[in-house]
Amino acid sequence: SIASKRYRTAYHFQSPKNWINDPCGPMYYNGIYHEFYQYNPGGTIADNIVWGHSVSTDLINWIQLEPAIVRDTPYDINGCWTGSITILPGDQPVIIYTGRDSKDHQSQNIVLPKNRSDPYLREWTKADNNPRILPVGPGLNSTEFRDPTTGWIGPDGLWRIAIGAELNGYGAALLYKSEDFLNWTRVDHPLYSDNAPSMWECPDFFAVLPGNNGGLDLSAAIPKGAKHVLKMSVDYSDKYMIGVYDLKRDAFVPDVVLDDRRLWLRMDYGTFYASKSFFDSKKGRRIIWGWSNETDSVSDDGVKGWAGIHAIPRTIWLDSDGKQLLQWPIDEIESLRKDEINHQGLELKNGDLFEIKGIDTLQADVEVDFELASIDSADPFDPSWLFDVERHCREAGASAKGGIGPFGLVVLASDNMEEHIAVHFRVYKSQKSHMILMCSDLRRSSLRSGLYTPAYGGFFEFDLEKERKISLRTLIDRSAVESFGGGGRVCITSRVYPVALADDDTVHMYAFNNGSTTVRVPQLRAWSMMTAQVNVIQG
Ligand code: FRU
Repeated sequence: SIASKRYRTAYHFQSPKNWINDPCGPMYYNGIYHEFYQYNPGGTIADNIVWGHSVSTDLINWIQLEPAIVRDTPYDINGCWTGSITILPGDQPVIIYTGRDSKDHQSQNIVLPKNRSDPYLREWTKADNNPRILPVGPGLNSTEFRDPTTGWIGPDGLWRIAIGAELNGYGAALLYKSEDFLNWTRVDHPLYSDNAPSMWECPDFFAVLPGNNGGLDLSAAIPKGAKHVLKMSVDYSDKYMIGVYDLKRDAFVPDVVLDDRRLWLRMDYGTFYASKSFFDSKKGRRIIWGWSNETDSVSDDGVKGWAGIHAIPRTIWLDSDGKQLLQWPIDEIESLRKDEINHQGLELKNGDLFEIKGIDTLQADVEVDFELASIDSADPFDPSWLFDVERHCREAGASAKGGIGPFGLVVLASDNMEEHIAVHFRVYKSQKSHMILMCSDLRRSSLRSGLYTPAYGGFFEFDLEKERKISLRTLIDRSAVESFGGGGRVCITSRVYPVALADDDTVHMYAFNNGSTTVRVPQLRAWSMMTAQVNVIQG
């Protein structure tokens, strides 16, 4: 079949079979990383959801265990939906998750490990007196009330969590507090809410330090100078705001308020949703996990026998100017690298296409710097492009010549280029500095029909007077192409299903420049990536 085994990723997190979606309750506990996830044990569609559970010592190789939470009580008979883990004082992990009953009413429920001395925490027990939080109170909609966050402690010593909801018809992160993590009271105002409809799924709330990639534990003391981040999943994407947590008002206050959701910052501009972060006490960093859905058809998923992956876990922190988050694949992923190739001092003139040879083009990690000899010919930036960056990526594609750019990588390209994915940049002069466009263009990614093949894109501001280099890192893993532009300022996860890949034909990788300004490549390094042991072992 065309829905080939070869689309299966080699080093991304996924289940051997069946459907997965949101990451739930990632944590590091007693030397073990845990990843839980929305999982359908019986098929490749989003139904009958339970909490799948896998464990790892390195976040790369995983052992799949029995599901941790299953649908066996009236309040969750229609789904054990997304939630989080908090480690309470005394090393007590506790899950709070959303149960969905037969009428689609949603409630929040508590689950504890049965035996904390089991290194894998295989078995979990639902607390008595669940559900713990019901969708009652003014302005709530009982079918849009879910996805509780990890808890944090306020100055009054009480625990807080946020819950994704629709409040008076608008998106919101509701705020609840508790003395014992079991009995919760709703605070009379939300942590933050939208001025427009659509519920916020999967809120995430955490603290970050500007220019410092060390992570912060939200229930420990937050150092001065730290900022808070509120993330919500809405409009098929993960958006976020940077701001402060005003302790007096007990509310999140964003630094910048943008009325139009199209202008909100995004964790990733591709297929990436329902992300959740956690503090990794082993390495003192914050790690974010996101779900990347298949973009082939439901019937293809059935033939493949699996659907959904998690993006490579990323370290997440705040840029030194405090204006946006930066993300970078966790260092552990580099242990899969082999066959390094290294090119120095390349020059890409207008129209040049440089083939990157000597590595496995289906499973690869590429790091390349593009250096601009001159920035004089940058075309002017038009702020209206920000409302629809995908449209701009379609209009300003890899073959549309600009002043500076497009330049970048072409990956998973068939012999005759009939199939290929272009990941590229374009530089624009804005009023204050420069705006860099990054696109991951999937329009020619496959000759197959019925696939979702947009031209993804995002912009980031960059001071080219200070630093003339724009970096690109792309992780290629068969049906997943994950790119990090400008040191992690724009991230784009893409899912692709080339016929050449399915047929095991040779596929190629290139660096290219189609802009009128010559681009230097001081360094291009690339590696083949080994196959990880992802859930092939059952614990
Ligand atoms: C987000 C989401 C959550 C919900 C879960 C159900 O992808 O819709 O809001 O809890 O998935 O699987």
